[in-house]
Amino acid sequence: MADVSEDPAVPSGPQPVQIEAEEGELDTDSAFGDDAESYTTSLKSSITNYKYENGRRYHAFKDGSYFLPNDESEADRLDLFHHIMSLRCDGELHWAPIGDNPGRILDIGTGTGIWAIDMGDKYPSAEILGNDLSAIQPTLVPPNVKFEVDDAENEWVYSSKFDYIHCRYMAGSLKDWPRLMQQAYKYTKPGGWVEFQDFDMTFYSTGGEFKENSALDQWATGVKHGISKFGLVAEPGPKLEGWVKDAGFTNVHHSVLPIPVGQWPKDKKLKEIGAFDLIQFLDGCEAISLRIFTNVQGWSPEHIQVFLSDVRKDLKNTRLQAQHNFHVVYGQKPLTAE
Ligand SMILES: C[S@@+](CC[C@H](N)C(=O)[O-])C[C@H]1O[C@@H](n2cnc3c(N)ncnc32)[C@H](O)[C@@H]1O
Repeated sequence: MADVSEDPAVPSGPQPVQIEAEEGELDTDSAFGDDAESYTTSLKSSITNYKYENGRRYHAFKDGSYFLPNDESEADRLDLFHHIMSLRCDGELHWAPIGDNPGRILDIGTGTGIWAIDMGDKYPSAEILGNDLSAIQPTLVPPNVKFEVDDAENEWVYSSKFDYIHCRYMAGSLKDWPRLMQQAYKYTKPGGWVEFQDFDMTFYSTGGEFKENSALDQWATGVKHGISKFGLVAEPGPKLEGWVKDAGFTNVHHSVLPIPVGQWPKDKKLKEIGAFDLIQFLDGCEAISLRIFTNVQGWSPEHIQVFLSDVRKDLKNTRLQAQHNFHVVYGQKPLTAE
């Protein structure tokens, strides 16, 4: 593992938030289901001429700029992540007070489009546009939901402004967040809202046996280091509030939500969230690691698999009481702005 302790691109530790642990040993329940997906067809080959590496499929548009696969198993993980976040955000799709009849909504880096589709169902008044580097969204969607292939870091050219802009889980996706926030400000209507929800990718524990330099800690550190070597921001979560304020938004709210890994919390809701988060990591750690550890650390796929078996042991170890933080930040464009 590379020494990243001096790497300025890897921020120092997360803000700890205590979760009370259940007493005694716990089993890991892996009996959680997955979702079927239908995929977009008839698109230009520059978009769908996907790349294959180490048995996983990657985006073709802006080839090489994003490290996670876009295949069916990653889509399943993203849909599970959506479920985890819905539970963690008390069943709400957003925390910004957008009212009962929002108009134009943009979802940056929409992934499988599951959030945009749920918003379309919830708000028939809204027109929702989701963009992404990959065209992995279903074709059967509510009539008020549309998807387009786009790089959110390009100059935005929308014909009119949005009432609400949403951007969730783009850790490791973007190079220039302040510029993204400036574009979001420009394309939000006066009085409209933006909401950014993202990770602090550092694991920690407030009462368990999780230790620095454990396999799980080394894995997270290696992932963050690799992402920053790609020139991308690994942990946008803790910086969102500052960026949103710097862009000019007001009425800014910031919540730090701890997410447990595994069923160790005493609280019933956090226990359920932890169970799903564990599955998300057990399924996703290969996807998260492959491009980064082969390209940046120069590891072979076999070396990665051996390392990941230790990481999975740590993930399943409820005595570690590992958790990580998720940040929800929303703000409003002043009514007096242009
Ligand atoms: C981790 S996923 C999150 C998906 C979705 N926002 C969610 O919360 O379920 C990140 C998504 O951002 C997309 N992405 C990465 N870089 C992007 C960019 N520069 N412009 C648009 N989408 C991008 C990826 O293709 C991927 O679908």
